[in-house]
Amino acid sequence: MKMKNVAIIGTGYVGLTIGACLSDIGHKVFCYDTNSIKLEDIKKGNLPIYEKGLDEIVQKNILNKNLNFTNSISVALNNADICFIAVGTPSNADGTVDETAVNEAIVEIAKNITKYTVIVNKSTVPIGSAQKTEKLIKRLTKVPFDVVSNPEFLRQGSAVYDFLNPERVVIGTSSSNALKNMMELYEPLNLAKEKFLITDEKTSEMIKYASNAFLAVKISYINEIASLAEKIGANIDLVSKGMGMDDRIGSKFLKAGIGFGGSCFPKDMKAIVNIAKNNDVELKIISSALSANAIAKENFAQKILSFYNFNVRGKIFAVWGLSFKPETNDLREAPSIDIIEKLFEYGAIIKAYDPKAVQEAKKIFLDKISYSNSKEETLENASALIILTEWEEFKSPDFNLIQEKLKDKIVFDGRNIFEKEKLKSYNLDYICVGKN
Ligand code: UGA
Repeated sequence: MKMKNVAIIGTGYVGLTIGACLSDIGHKVFCYDTNSIKLEDIKKGNLPIYEKGLDEIVQKNILNKNLNFTNSISVALNNADICFIAVGTPSNADGTVDETAVNEAIVEIAKNITKYTVIVNKSTVPIGSAQKTEKLIKRLTKVPFDVVSNPEFLRQGSAVYDFLNPERVVIGTSSSNALKNMMELYEPLNLAKEKFLITDEKTSEMIKYASNAFLAVKISYINEIASLAEKIGANIDLVSKGMGMDDRIGSKFLKAGIGFGGSCFPKDMKAIVNIAKNNDVELKIISSALSANAIAKENFAQKILSFYNFNVRGKIFAVWGLSFKPETNDLREAPSIDIIEKLFEYGAIIKAYDPKAVQEAKKIFLDKISYSNSKEETLENASALIILTEWEEFKSPDFNLIQEKLKDKIVFDGRNIFEKEKLKSYNLDYICVGKN
C-alpha cells in the first residue's frame, strides 16, 4: 500500500471525520484549522462533535502519530500529496452558497504548496467550482497541481462507518495523475471496482446536490402523503412499508415525521435551486419539497396547539429529543427549533431532554428551555410528552411512569416511535404523524 501525506483544510465535522478515518487506514494526516482552541481540545480528547466511534480512532491515531493537528497551513501542506478542502459552505440569506471560507482556503493553499499536490474539494460547492478553483490557483502559483471533486456522502451519526464502507466513491477529474493518487488513497478500503464512479468535475459536483435533494424530496413526499393518510384514515407507516417493498421505490427515506433538518439538505436544496435559477432552469420539485418541509413542521406544532385550543400558556411540556436526528449532537435546522419556537409563541413552558445535544441546544434556546438530566425527569409536572427525535432510548420507556406523571395523559409523537394500541393499554392518548 502506498501511504499518502494528506492535509485537511478545515477541521469541522467533515474534516475531522475524514482526517481521522484516513489516518486510521494508514495515511499520514495533518488537520489544519484557524481555531487553535478547538485543535487543542481535540488533542486533549474533547471532540467538538459527537460521532459514534470517532473518539476512539482520533485517540489511537494521535498516539501513533498518523493524525496531527496544526494551525499552520504551511505545516499541513508541507510534503502533502493530497489536500482536502473541507471548510463550511453555509447558505447566504438568499439561499446562495457562501463561498468565503472555500475561497480563503484556496488562496492559502496556492500560497503554501511546494510540490505537485492533488487538491480535493470535499466541501459541497456550486457546480463549476473545480474549474474556477483551478483557474484561481494557476494565477497564484507555478507549482504543479490538479483539482478534483470528491463529494462527501457521510451521514451524521454513522459517518465513521460510512467512510469505511461507502456505497460509492465519486471522483471528478480530468487528470490521470490525480486519479491515480485518489485511487491509491482509497486502496486500503479494499473496495470493489464497481463502487467507484469516475466523472468530469461538474458531473461529480452535481451528483452531490442531486442526491441530497432527491433524498429530501422523498421525505417531503411521504410527509405530504402522511397528511392525506391522516385525513382519510389510512396508516402512513404501512403505506410506506407497502411502497418500499417495491425495489424501484426502496424502503429508505420514507419515514414520515416532522420534516428533515440538518446542515445539509435545506442548504443544498436552496443552493441547487439558485444554481438552476441562474441558468434559467426552474427546479419546481425541489422548491416544493422545501415548502412541504416547512409545512410538516408547522402541522405538528398545530396538532399540539389545536389539542389545547391554542391555550397552552403556562403549560409544561416534556420534550424528548432536540437534535435533528438521533446519534448526533447537531441541532442545525432541527425541526425541534421551529416546533418549540411555535409553542413558545403561545406561552408554553418546555422541559427538554436529549442524550447528546443539550450543549448545542443551549446555544440556540439559551435558558428559555429548562434542561433535564433524564427523560424521566422531564415528566415532572408536565402536561404532555412530545417526541421530537427518535433516539433509541426513547423507544421502550416506562409507560406506567409516563401515565402516572403526565397531567393530560397524552403523548405527541413526531417520529412515530410508538403504537397507539400500546399507549391505549396504558390509558394514554396518542397523536402522531399520518395515522389516527
Ligand atoms: C445527509 C445525507 O444522507 C448524506 O448522504 C450526506 O453526506 C449528508 O447529508 C451531507 O450532505 O453531508 P445527514 O444530514 O447526516 O446526511 O442526515 P440524514 O440521515 O440524511 O437525515 C436528514 C434529515 O432527514 C433528518 O432530520 C432526519 O430525521 C430526516 N429523515 C430522514 C426523515 O424525516 N425521514 C426519513 O425517512 C429519513
